[in-house]
Amino acid sequence: GLNPMEEGLARAHINIALVKYWGKRDPRLNLPMNGSISVTLDHYFVTASVAMEPRRQEDRLWVNGAQASPQETQRVSKFFQRLKEYAGVSGGIVARTTANVPMASGLASSSAVFAALTKAFSLSLGLPWSSSELSRLARLGSGSASRSIHGGFVEWVKGIRNDGEDSYAVPLATMDSWPSLAFVVVQVAAGPKAVSSREGMQRVVQTSPLYPGWLASVDHDLTRVRDAIYRQDLSLLGSVAESNALKMHATALAAVPPLVYWTGATVSVIRRVQEMRAAGIEAYVTIDAGPHPVVLVEHHQAADLAYALSTIPDVVEVVTTQPGPGVEAVSAI
Ligand code: PMV
Repeated sequence: GLNPMEEGLARAHINIALVKYWGKRDPRLNLPMNGSISVTLDHYFVTASVAMEPRRQEDRLWVNGAQASPQETQRVSKFFQRLKEYAGVSGGIVARTTANVPMASGLASSSAVFAALTKAFSLSLGLPWSSSELSRLARLGSGSASRSIHGGFVEWVKGIRNDGEDSYAVPLATMDSWPSLAFVVVQVAAGPKAVSSREGMQRVVQTSPLYPGWLASVDHDLTRVRDAIYRQDLSLLGSVAESNALKMHATALAAVPPLVYWTGATVSVIRRVQEMRAAGIEAYVTIDAGPHPVVLVEHHQAADLAYALSTIPDVVEVVTTQPGPGVEAVSAI
């Protein structure tokens, strides 16, 4: 039988999208309108611990050592409810997460949170879930979490079924497949509280006149990014990732009411990267649904680039990292 006191411990890293997941065809199952490609990053990660508490009904959540807010607890509890149904178990759960990434800042923490919770849940029950099962289940918590199951370069295939069984992430290339590539994560001072990606996506799908243009062009971006990863072609990868990100933000700017995820510092970073490119440094920028840019650059030019970006006013932290691993069991939180 199951040992109810067993604690599952797992770690997952955040990922940054190179071709964005943008729009849901089914908000309850987090089924995407389009496929997406990301890279899992080494530096930022979340560790999760999950244990069943059969004598309780309620789930409890601790985030970085403090009890989570009722809203956070409710979101995670709804997610656990679906995992419990899938696993055929009942009772309460106590879960803890610790992260070295700021929560809900637009730095993709939810991608790592739900990937780590899914794996930790499976470990707490001794369930041998496959990576595609883990990815499908993590997707229910946050779409982008489906991709943090894998390390390196990852594609989330949108699937065509209504039940979501064929909507999960698959690895495209391992974390050590492109050693000359670096990612410079630029954290800018928090602007006005960002609209969640869930809310933002729905508003864009429903009101942005540019959304049909996004959908019509994303398959071509996916083809080119797959090809760039396969050939390790930074000019191709970077130029498609940058234009895909700016296109996503254009759909948001055109929504009603408009969604402006950027701060002044975001724009300054975009301009500086474009200037450096004109001066011969191959660097390209991407931005998820928040203000923080991530810059793709050759490893040997990363330090100069990171220094230049750190001098921009309102840039808070600049971290240079590389592709990182997929979700994995750990022995301590
Ligand atoms: O996983 P969510 O629901 O937080 O959505 C993520 C959306 C983007 O970060 C903007 C794009 C992506 O593919 O990660």
